[in-house]
Amino acid sequence: VCDSGDFATIDKYKPQDATTNPSLILAASKKADYAKLIDAAVEYGKSHGDSMDEKVDATLDSLLVQFGKEILKIVPGKVSTEVDARFSFDTKESVNKALHIIDLYKEQGIEKDRILIKVASTWEGIKAAHILQSEHGINCNLTLMFSLPQAIAAAEAGAFLISPFVGRILDWYKASTKKDYAPHEDPGVKSVQNIFNYYKKYGYKTIVMGASFRNVGEITELAGCDYLTIAPNLLEALYNSKDEVPKKLDANDATNLDIEKKSYLN
Ligand code: E4P
Repeated sequence: VCDSGDFATIDKYKPQDATTNPSLILAASKKADYAKLIDAAVEYGKSHGDSMDEKVDATLDSLLVQFGKEILKIVPGKVSTEVDARFSFDTKESVNKALHIIDLYKEQGIEKDRILIKVASTWEGIKAAHILQSEHGINCNLTLMFSLPQAIAAAEAGAFLISPFVGRILDWYKASTKKDYAPHEDPGVKSVQNIFNYYKKYGYKTIVMGASFRNVGEITELAGCDYLTIAPNLLEALYNSKDEVPKKLDANDATNLDIEKKSYLN
């Protein structure tokens, strides 16, 4: 899976799926080649909403969907489109924004089975994902995930996929301990291994997609994970490396692990 909003770059790596977030789309939208998409989003914003805030919101929503639509011309699978962070602590607003994004895609002729709605892994976000999955049949990607309890709650909520972050955990550890971590000791890598093993041991169907990588070593340590979403610079580094990458995560090994079953949602 390619983690980028830049569809020309995504095309280079031919991934199955792509993940975006508002920052990635904004970064991509600075390319002169994409000026037409910005113009289309601005035009959409001008004619939607009464206040300036509503028009800005409509412009941003349209931008996310315009880029998602272009990405879907390239990837055969799904694109993740994020409900922005303002709604991370509001279940109702997260659900409403997700439904609106799905409607905008539908207006563009894109069905919901090609979209994953990215929702923050807060308590409110996980509850929003539960409503979207169970009442609307909308598949969710639980993002901003840093811990096993978040992952367990997301699986109990019936999330289609989770994105446990690696690099941001490493960032925190490096900043607080002033130490470097080899990939096999990387606390972000360990977090994803733990979540993967827990899901496989207890038979959860939610897909585990490691995200937020800082180096190739983190990625190769997690080879064998269901999915990994990787930024273009790291895909390039992997692409150029001729090394075989042995599988390090295996669902069959997880069944022997001593991890106690917990419940957070029920
Ligand atoms: C994935 O879905 C996220 O958008 C991404 O991996 C976050 O990475 P960052 O920690 O580099 O922002």
